[in-house]
Amino acid sequence: MRLSIIGSGYVGTTVAACFADLGHEVVNVDIDEEIVEAINDGTAPIHEEGLPELIAKHAGPNGTGRLKATTDYAAVLDTEVTFLCLPTPQNDDGSIDLSIMEAGATQLGETLAEKSDWHTVVVKSTVVPGSTEDTITPILEDASDTTAGEAFGVGMNPEFLREGTAVNDFLNPDKVVLGADDDRALADIHDVFDPLVAQADAPVVETDTRTAEMIKYANNAFLAAKISLINDIGNICKQFDIDAYEVADAIGLDDRIGEQFLRSGVGWGGSCFPKDVSAIISAAEERGYEPPVLNAAVDLNERQPGRLVDLLAEHLDGEFDGARVTVLGLAFKPGTDDMRNSRAIPVIRDLQKRGGTVTAYDPVAMDNAPDYVDDVTYADSAAAALDGADGAVVVTDWDEFAALDEEFDAMANPIVVDGRRIIERRDGFTYEGLTW
Ligand code: UGA
Repeated sequence: MRLSIIGSGYVGTTVAACFADLGHEVVNVDIDEEIVEAINDGTAPIHEEGLPELIAKHAGPNGTGRLKATTDYAAVLDTEVTFLCLPTPQNDDGSIDLSIMEAGATQLGETLAEKSDWHTVVVKSTVVPGSTEDTITPILEDASDTTAGEAFGVGMNPEFLREGTAVNDFLNPDKVVLGADDDRALADIHDVFDPLVAQADAPVVETDTRTAEMIKYANNAFLAAKISLINDIGNICKQFDIDAYEVADAIGLDDRIGEQFLRSGVGWGGSCFPKDVSAIISAAEERGYEPPVLNAAVDLNERQPGRLVDLLAEHLDGEFDGARVTVLGLAFKPGTDDMRNSRAIPVIRDLQKRGGTVTAYDPVAMDNAPDYVDDVTYADSAAAALDGADGAVVVTDWDEFAALDEEFDAMANPIVVDGRRIIERRDGFTYEGLTW
């Protein structure tokens, strides 16, 4: 099929490359000329495993030609289905900011006014229940001067891929959720996903757009709350000198609990969990319901970075007083250069607030870091960051940190507080785990 993908962020670029790999003709539309140029050169505009290979395979001079990029919305006219993969950030009060989606839908609608045959629009961005039906569809109708169900149909297809493993997650989904209030739109979305569903043998959930929207929030809220719960239990374990990871391994054997997302530590970050949990809490509160469990999950998540810093402070007689602290890891998780809502941000700010100075190292995220934190010295390697330091905290579980050994000997004061259980406890330095 001929597909257009509006937006070339983590989701849009990955989805476009994967759809091309499944045999579709895909055009990515984005306002950022640099991103468009990168894709057309056959290179990946973001750091994501497996993506450079797919983009080189389908775009650029040696590609199959199935993937192209442009800044021009008119490219939509040559396609049958458009996926809206635009960002849905949060307002200061935590609620969803739909303005980028609204602007994209307006431009898309104005473009569709020129189209004589049927078109299906699919919302892939994470939007609170009702957004597709009550906001996006009316904008498309107004801007195209046509009626949904007659000239075009609208569907909602939430995405469950994770940064760092996005390509693999997209190509091997545990489910495909197709939401539509229109049979023709639903049939089109089915046609788009048929090759993936056949290849991955994935279950398909067919539903209406509001339920599809809610499934995405429920998925992320459940996982975020699961991590907060294991962090709560982990904090209790710490009080009893019990290893929370041993406990998690045992409870994870219960199918009803499951072994994934039971890694306790400094908490959840990234561009999705914090924003999505806040947005669904805010949307629920607007309708008169305050969700106590989700509010507690957020509250606990906000406290974990402070607990990490507390543990280091205990080893420094409670005071930082100019101490030079090494922060190992800046990305919100390994495998990405993304620092959005990384737990490194509150950890660094707290260390600085309490009088410490910070030297940081991350294998890929250091270029992004100055957008989020100030007054940090960046080192070229973990070894250089640790050299002469008065203490260290681990915020991201990069594999290379597991291999660190004599590097700790070069610290002025060899104390390591691990927020991710990646460093091995051994003789020669003081090791403290956050929940073990
Ligand atoms: C998350 C979801 O896992 C995806 O299914 C979803 O599609 C995506 O959000 C989205 O809405 O777009 P992502 O934010 O890329 O994906 O990252 P995760 O791997 O879920 O990790 C999120 C945070 O939780 C990270 O900070 C990670 O360190 C933390 N985490 C994860 C833990 O603290 N413990 C765990 O056991 C697992």
